[in-house]
Amino acid sequence: MVNIGIFASGSGSNFENLVLALEDGRGEGYSVKFLFSDKKNSYALERAKKLGIERVCIELKDCLNKEEYEKKILEKLEKENVQLIVLAGYMKIISSALLQKYENRIINIHPSYLPNYQGKDAIKRAFLEKNKETGITIHYVDEGVDTGSIIYQEKIQIENIKTLKEVEEKIHQLEHEIYPKVLTRLCQGEIK
Ligand code: GAR
Repeated sequence: MVNIGIFASGSGSNFENLVLALEDGRGEGYSVKFLFSDKKNSYALERAKKLGIERVCIELKDCLNKEEYEKKILEKLEKENVQLIVLAGYMKIISSALLQKYENRIINIHPSYLPNYQGKDAIKRAFLEKNKETGITIHYVDEGVDTGSIIYQEKIQIENIKTLKEVEEKIHQLEHEIYPKVLTRLCQGEIK
């Protein structure tokens, strides 16, 4: 069993889905030790409360600097014996102290077919540029923005989709289908 900590800044639908996947059999081999959020008002924290998952919230503005902020996170990760950090809509860059401690043990899901549309608003940019296709990518986190080595990626066609909302829904549906599967295979040692 791999102990994981899930990091989310916003809605937390991917976080919730990873927890529900354990209950309905779509996911196995991992145990969710806590949800970490960097935003006190994130809906992810509400979801964690409803799911009975421990919530940890630290805001950067309450810390002296990013170093102190990540030190506090690291203390919690070590206390809970977290082996793998799973980013699910966590919108801060991970800095070198945490990256070094968790080298090759931090994964992220990104709503594009990387290296296309790295960074923020990936879905919106693909839609506004009238791209025929976009996708999702699950990758290891390194010091760059959405640049780490790719674990899994999948394309989707969007040329016939009329609204941004529909594209977002399609991406989220695919994320919810794929993230538990890939996480399960990683935790079971079937993929690296
Ligand atoms: C997801 O679409 C995820 O891929 C994206 O944020 C969304 C979070 O949704 N992540 C990034 O853009 C990271 N660069 P959620 O809070 O409902 O899971």
